[in-house]
Amino acid sequence: MFKKLNIIEDKNKLIRKKSVDIELPISEEDKKFALEMLEYVKESQKAEIQEKYNVRAGVGLSAIQLGVNKKIVAIYFEDEDKTHEYLIANPIVTSFSVKPSFLSTGEACLSVPKDIDGYVYRHNKITVKFYDILKDEERTEKLDGYLSIVFQHELDHLDGILYYDRIDKKNPFKEVKGAVEI
Ligand code: NI
Repeated sequence: MFKKLNIIEDKNKLIRKKSVDIELPISEEDKKFALEMLEYVKESQKAEIQEKYNVRAGVGLSAIQLGVNKKIVAIYFEDEDKTHEYLIANPIVTSFSVKPSFLSTGEACLSVPKDIDGYVYRHNKITVKFYDILKDEERTEKLDGYLSIVFQHELDHLDGILYYDRIDKKNPFKEVKGAVEI
């Protein structure tokens, strides 16, 4: 049974609140909540769910988007080679490339009802340390490409930052030399 979660939008000031680390080992309550987040992201990608429950497809969700300022992030998407599934807590970017990258189609967010056009430049590669809720262990991963962008979008939510904050106001499609287009 699909559980429609109440996602707050950018007009709600709570979306700007900074999130805090969860206590580890993870509590049953936090784990249950996190699993609901991941389930929501997965299900949101199914056409029948979108229609029946009037939900938008998303690839990532942060707890603050449900009004909870805990550092919990769910990410799920499939590409040609594999399924990318992450349910993480307390992430920290430990290093990143100077070279930027951006999505040629721009970004979108479940908390931003109307898409805002423009390029969002992020680090092309990041190394991120996090607590893996599914595996129940601390891990470090090196990420690049689309996955790296999705992570950085979600990690921004934990700092109260929305993707359009990073779009150049005067020139939304400003080109940055050497940036990797994804
Ligand atoms: Ni978002």
